[in-house]
Amino acid sequence: MKNILVTGGAGFIGSHTVVELFEAGYNPVIVDNLSNSLIGAIDGIEKIIGKKPTFYKMDFQNIKELAKVISDEKINGVIHFAALKAVGESTEQPLKYYRNNVSGFIDFLELMTKNSLPLVFSSSCTVYGEPDRLPVHETSVLKPAESPYGASKQMDEIIMQDVIKTKKMKGISLRYFNPVGAHQSGFIGELPLGKPSNLFPVITQTIAGSNGEITVFGNDYDTPDGSCIRDYIHVVDLAKAHISALKYLNAQSIGFYDVFNIGSGHGNSVFEIIHTFEKTTGLKVPYRIGKRRMGDVVATYADCSKANKELGWHTVKSLEDACRDSWNWQQKLK
Ligand code: NAD
Ligand code: WQD
Repeated sequence: MKNILVTGGAGFIGSHTVVELFEAGYNPVIVDNLSNSLIGAIDGIEKIIGKKPTFYKMDFQNIKELAKVISDEKINGVIHFAALKAVGESTEQPLKYYRNNVSGFIDFLELMTKNSLPLVFSSSCTVYGEPDRLPVHETSVLKPAESPYGASKQMDEIIMQDVIKTKKMKGISLRYFNPVGAHQSGFIGELPLGKPSNLFPVITQTIAGSNGEITVFGNDYDTPDGSCIRDYIHVVDLAKAHISALKYLNAQSIGFYDVFNIGSGHGNSVFEIIHTFEKTTGLKVPYRIGKRRMGDVVATYADCSKANKELGWHTVKSLEDACRDSWNWQQKLK
């Protein structure tokens, strides 16, 4: 398995995975319509790896064209990142999300089965909702989704599993917790188009002076410091999990399907993130306490022992690395 189709390869997680694929000796082929990324990500990848990555600017839902890419590039493995991911927007425009993330995925899976391709799919911790017990294990109950985005990931997992049962392909779903940080070079990172809503870009844009102060969404939760707890994983560690997943999948028979949590295994509160940013950058993060944000889970973090044991994957980066690398990326953006 050498030639890997990476849909959404110009995005945040995709671009970092493309770099790791190169470094591990694979030949990634990017398909991205740049609906939530810029061509600068492709330039950033080039700066890191020293050559232009193969890039097709196209919608993965254009199945005819995608089939041609698979044949022309002799693709023998696939990582599917391409999806819409803004939780708030998904509640306002559910059909847009179901069309891209679910209906598009059905046609995409049909193409995978026709070519018997091994697939690594980007799922999310959002499928668990508010967990009953911490840390969250893969066997934890999946709660009704809080948003069409979350529902789209739950549906995709079910559809993929059912399709794989027909023994025409094999695949893995990786349930990412909260990906943060940036490549240590500062050439690629998270680039939210428009106003950011995720904590890390909100903080880095605030420190950079373009965003006033941050609002901490609630300090009255039943947690040690009253703010919500999440599992923040460095995007480079997350990217490497895809290499481990591909290798593992390569050794499995057709009809194989499994899911893995990919997180740091630690829970950190919003205040801990603010303080770690202040400690790592030496800068103040101005903040105020606001109301709870609708739909926020109180606390979640991953049990990653399954990925550790079966995929042989472990994190190496710290929260400090993530804060430093995010800030480094933000400064290069200015
Ligand atoms: P991103 O928006 O940065 O990257 C997704 C990329 O897919 C973008 O470059 C976008 O242009 C592209 N894309 C979207 N629809 C497309 C289409 N129809 N055809 C071609 N390209 C298309 O997002 P990300 O943070 O890198 O997330 C990657 C995947 O991981 C997504 O599936 C997302 O749902 C999932 N995920 C993300 C997070 C997170 O917090 N970032 C957490 C869990 C899961
Ligand atoms: C983190 C914490 C906020 C901004 C989202 C998606 C989820 C998954 C991961 C894709 C929370 C707090 C944030 C701010 C704050 N993505 N916060 N002030 O909500 O855990 O998860 O990304 O699959 O589906 O929902 O991430 O970064 O938005 O929030 O206090 O201005 O920071 O309340 O506790 P979240 P986030």
